Amino acid sequence: MSGKLIVGNWKMNGSLAANQDLVRAVMAGLSDKSCKVAVCAPAVYLPQLQQLAAGSHLLWGAQDVSAHEQGAYTGELSATMLREFGVRYAIVGHSERRQYHGETDAVVATKAQRALAAGITPIVCVGETLAEREAGHTEEVVKRQLAAVIHTNGHCISEIVVAYEPVWAIGTGKTASPEQAQQVHALLRAQLKAATAHPERIALLYGGSMNTANAASLLSQNDIDGGLIGGASLKSADFLSIVAAASH
Ligand code: PGA
Repeated sequence: MSGKLIVGNWKMNGSLAANQDLVRAVMAGLSDKSCKVAVCAPAVYLPQLQQLAAGSHLLWGAQDVSAHEQGAYTGELSATMLREFGVRYAIVGHSERRQYHGETDAVVATKAQRALAAGITPIVCVGETLAEREAGHTEEVVKRQLAAVIHTNGHCISEIVVAYEPVWAIGTGKTASPEQAQQVHALLRAQLKAATAHPERIALLYGGSMNTANAASLLSQNDIDGGLIGGASLKSADFLSIVAAASH
């Protein structure tokens, strides 16, 4: 993995006016020396992102993608539709979708497949709940979640991004310690090494209350190649300070 990747996940936040201010401020703070940076916006705002950020250092992505190619799936958005709006990344299997929308490992794996087929890089989220961690099941859970994606995507697996997001750390202000995160990242790295001849192409992001205070220590870990940032991606100064921490 050469250079780090910082991705903002706006979740269901924003408005035309607020996005314009945020995106302009973020773009103004980026330079050629910045690492790779993207924001994943609510899908209705992707045309706005395309208009504001085309040709800039800032890339953009979606927060979900349909597991189906096309047809009678009311409310769904296909990967090929997203691609028409310049989308480079699509988050798949975020814990909020697994939890509130019943997404299974198999559905997440198919979503990753649809994204790849359309030329979009899926950001595959894995992570354990607090109960799973306390029961000593962290390793088993994240390996099972990633194994499903590896199984379905075979030789394309080196084209994905993986985000380790412990569910207990998302939006809670509780961050995994750099050592806790590194430990899980090392496991995921080993699993990916066994699955592809090009594991070095795969960025392994950490997500879960990453902020200006803890970004540098998390990003200095051997197997942490970047971050998936929720809350702190909504404030340009905070997001840019995380980008700066990832850029040297
Ligand atoms: P958070 O969210 O940074 O607000 O914890 C991260 C995420 O859910 O991707």
